[in-house]
Amino acid sequence: MSGIVGYIGGQNAVPILLDTLKRLEYRGYDSTGIAVIQNSALVSRKKVGNIEILKESLRNEPFGGNIGIGHTRWATHGKPTEENAHPHIAGKIAIVHNGIVENYLALKESLLKDGRSFVSETDTEVIAHLIDKYFDPSASSGTGSGLETAVQKAISEISGTYALCVISPSDPDKIVIARNENPIVIGLGRGEFFIASDATAILSYVKDVLFLDDGEVAVIKKEGVQVYDKSSRPAAKNIRRLGLNPIMMEKGGYRHFILKEIFEQPRAIWDTIRGRVSGGDIVFEDFRLEGSEAGRIKKIFITGCGTSWHAGLIGKFMIEGLSRIPVDVDISSELRYRNPIIDSETLLIAISESGETVDTIAALREAKKRGAKTVAICNTVESSLSRESDGKIDIHAGPEISVASTKTFTASLSALYILAVYLAKQRGAIGKSEEAERVKGIIALTGKIEDAMGLEEEIEGLSKIFYEKRGFLYLGRGINYPAALEGAMKMKELAYIYAEGYSGGEMKHGPIALIDENTPVIILAPQNSLYEKSLIDIEEVKARNGVVIVFATEGDTEVAKRARHVLYIPHVPELLTPILYSIPLQFLAYYVALRRGLNVDRPRNLAKSVTVE
Ligand code: AGP
Repeated sequence: MSGIVGYIGGQNAVPILLDTLKRLEYRGYDSTGIAVIQNSALVSRKKVGNIEILKESLRNEPFGGNIGIGHTRWATHGKPTEENAHPHIAGKIAIVHNGIVENYLALKESLLKDGRSFVSETDTEVIAHLIDKYFDPSASSGTGSGLETAVQKAISEISGTYALCVISPSDPDKIVIARNENPIVIGLGRGEFFIASDATAILSYVKDVLFLDDGEVAVIKKEGVQVYDKSSRPAAKNIRRLGLNPIMMEKGGYRHFILKEIFEQPRAIWDTIRGRVSGGDIVFEDFRLEGSEAGRIKKIFITGCGTSWHAGLIGKFMIEGLSRIPVDVDISSELRYRNPIIDSETLLIAISESGETVDTIAALREAKKRGAKTVAICNTVESSLSRESDGKIDIHAGPEISVASTKTFTASLSALYILAVYLAKQRGAIGKSEEAERVKGIIALTGKIEDAMGLEEEIEGLSKIFYEKRGFLYLGRGINYPAALEGAMKMKELAYIYAEGYSGGEMKHGPIALIDENTPVIILAPQNSLYEKSLIDIEEVKARNGVVIVFATEGDTEVAKRARHVLYIPHVPELLTPILYSIPLQFLAYYVALRRGLNVDRPRNLAKSVTVE
């Protein structure tokens, strides 16, 4: 996934492009670049690496203009080089693009036959040449079509996904944008307009925005915006007032965004549940499955990628445990291709922080095609996934700037928990009193999370001992097996240390060979239905000279006899333990990564949301 920005108005575009690109850096940071129209000519600068490198270059050799576009790249086609960086320029056209042109090789071949030459390996440069091919500057004098028609002709030949910004000094007073499956938003200023891949980048400039829909093209001039639908007819659009404020985009005194977001979890969970549980019965403003319709659901599929998949695995325990509806959990890139048995008696729950993960969107489409009712659990308003689902359960975690998911993971789990209680009540599997009891339990959880955060200092101390280890094993049983998977994921993506999450009961069937004094084993051992089994796991690791770090329930005196490193977590109902136990595992990965001198908010090779297959 990459980030695109644009500006047209009375100010110098360059500082605005750089600032908005900075706020989109979490979408990819292999290379960055901008282009503006200056004195009727295109001027551009592109640099490998993050936005700071581009800023430095522009400080030394500045340029400016009132119309410009910019890009921060997560490489898909072609390595991160200056040639492959955006903006791409062909003739009088400059373009930035987020997405994938699936038929770019065929298009490139035909353009090469037309005598065009290419400087990059990217699919995006093909779009630039296509637009240039159809662009007739003479027609831009208002008598004919102009840049927008060239864009419409070009995109009609593309198969794939795109969010595009296009400018040309031959049609100098506009930016043309287009969308298909990748988001793009227009911020409405006074005589100026701001464009970005998502609204968080332009929060400090505007309050009102327009979201483009698939197939739409927009022409943005200082005087206003005109949107055209996929048949090139003018399209009316609703103006949306952004509910976020700029301060949410800052670190708020924390050293890193990820640390701020770890500490924001009580608030993120409370904001996710409060509007839905305050009236006694659980109510979802944008999702309903009541009475006979709830009774008709014979199977639930949960799908997601990465951390969202881990959330789904935990959601299975919650929903099956309370409602007794069978649940399958699939990685989205698997579900979409495995010919799943899905029909009108299926509910599909798609989990995605960004709501733009292409595999998850595709899995949702596959389920809809087969007749399923669908609901999206998402942290991004107006995301593609939410817009395509029958219902949605927005999590209100606020913008998650760090690439590694923390608060949106636990907020998703909270949404899954109240959904599980809701489904169980609708199906008559639990009564009013148990519903009220369970709602009370998750409301109390936010206070217990604050307690669990008290482990931060102790965990920072542990990181000193273990930060140079070559690998970690994370063990959990039952609902805490997926929590172990997520803990291992955090260690991998933040500290670049190989780490594996495993079912405690399964460890002796292979991974036990990994155990020695150099491989710390983290064991989640709450006093729950599988506690005795976890004690066995501890013994098995110790018997092989393994070093055990145990997360146990406050007041547990048994574990202390068996393990040197024991950290205590408040007691909560079993189905809520993964939410609580994930917090110290986030701290552990954070402090190990910090000690290894790594960029904890922008880990290498990663992007916040993967909009490619
Ligand atoms: C988790 O820390 C990673 N950022 C990654 O696994 C992420 O969860 C995955 O790419 C799915 O993203 P989504 O939730 O936006 O769909």
